[in-house]
Amino acid sequence: MSQLHVIDHPMIQHKLTIMRDKNTPSKDFRELLYEISLIMGYEVTRDFPLKEVEIETPMEKTTMKMIAGKKVALVPILRAGLGMVEGLLALLPVARVGHIGLYRDESTHKPVPYYCKLPKGISERMVILTDPMLATGGSACDAIALLKEHGCRDIRLMCLVAAPEGVNAVMEAHPDVDIYVAAVDRTLNEDCYILPGLGDAGDRIFGTK
Ligand code: PRP
Ligand code: URA
Repeated sequence: MSQLHVIDHPMIQHKLTIMRDKNTPSKDFRELLYEISLIMGYEVTRDFPLKEVEIETPMEKTTMKMIAGKKVALVPILRAGLGMVEGLLALLPVARVGHIGLYRDESTHKPVPYYCKLPKGISERMVILTDPMLATGGSACDAIALLKEHGCRDIRLMCLVAAPEGVNAVMEAHPDVDIYVAAVDRTLNEDCYILPGLGDAGDRIFGTK
C-alpha cells in the first residue's frame, strides 16, 4: 500500500505561502521551488541504504557511513515538473534525468502525451517523478504507467501541492508508489484547479500567460 508523506516542515510551509501569493514574481517563485525541492529531497531519500567506509580524519582512522551507491533517475512531467529538478540535482548530482511531456486538455482535463525521453537502463534505477501540482491525478497516473511500461519498479512521486482527489487517484491506480507532498489542499474547482492552490504552476514558473 502506498504512503502519503506530507513534508510540512515550518520552512517549507513558509516558503510555500510566499509561492501561493499571486503577487510573487516568477523569479522568486522559481527560486522558492528550487529551495523546497532540495529540502523535500532529504525526505524522499530518507531510506537510502548506507555502507561503512574507512576514512582518516586529521585525528585518527575511523569507520563512517556513506550512501551505498543508490542509482536514481529524476523524471519531471513537462513543463512544471522541470522546476523541481535543479533542487534535487543539488542533492543527487549524479542522478540521470528523463522527461515526460504531458499537458491537460482544457475541456476534458485529461492528460495528452507529447514527449518521452528516458535514460537508458532506467528500470534499474529508483525514479523520482516530479510535478508541483497533483490535481485530478490524471497526469501523474499516466506518467507512472509510462514509467512502468519502461520496466520501472521503484517509483516515488514528488509534488508540491496536492488535491485530495489526486492523492486518491494515484493511490488507487498505483498502490506501490509513495507520494511526497508539501501540502494537501481543500479541493478542485470546476476547471480542476486546486483550491486554494497557487494557480497554474507552469505559467508561474515560466512567466507565460
Ligand atoms: C499541470 C501540472 C500537472 C497537471 C496536474 O500541467 O503541472 O502536470 O497540470 O493536473 P492533473 O493532476 O489534473 O493531471 P499542465 O497540463 O498545465 O501543463 P504545463 O506544466 O505544461 O503547464
Ligand atoms: N495544474 C496547475 O498548474 N495548477 C492546478 O491547480 C491544477 C493543475
